[in-house]
Amino acid sequence: MYICLCKAVTHQQVTQAVEQGQSYAEIRKSLGVATDCGCCGQAAKKTIQDHLARMPVCEFAEAS
Ligand code: FES
Repeated sequence: MYICLCKAVTHQQVTQAVEQGQSYAEIRKSLGVATDCGCCGQAAKKTIQDHLARMPVCEFAEAS
């Protein structure tokens, strides 16, 4: 499923970028999401938030 039609960026590309540790700003830069018409910005942010919420928490991150 496409998140960004202008740049042909898929949901999978966005979630893979999240798994690589990219922020919304970094995803905008690397994939071009929300850099043309901007219509996909909110959908991209929601995809990032939802995917982060489903990712397991690193046990070492909780210790610090
Ligand atoms: S749909 Fe993403 S910039 Fe237009």
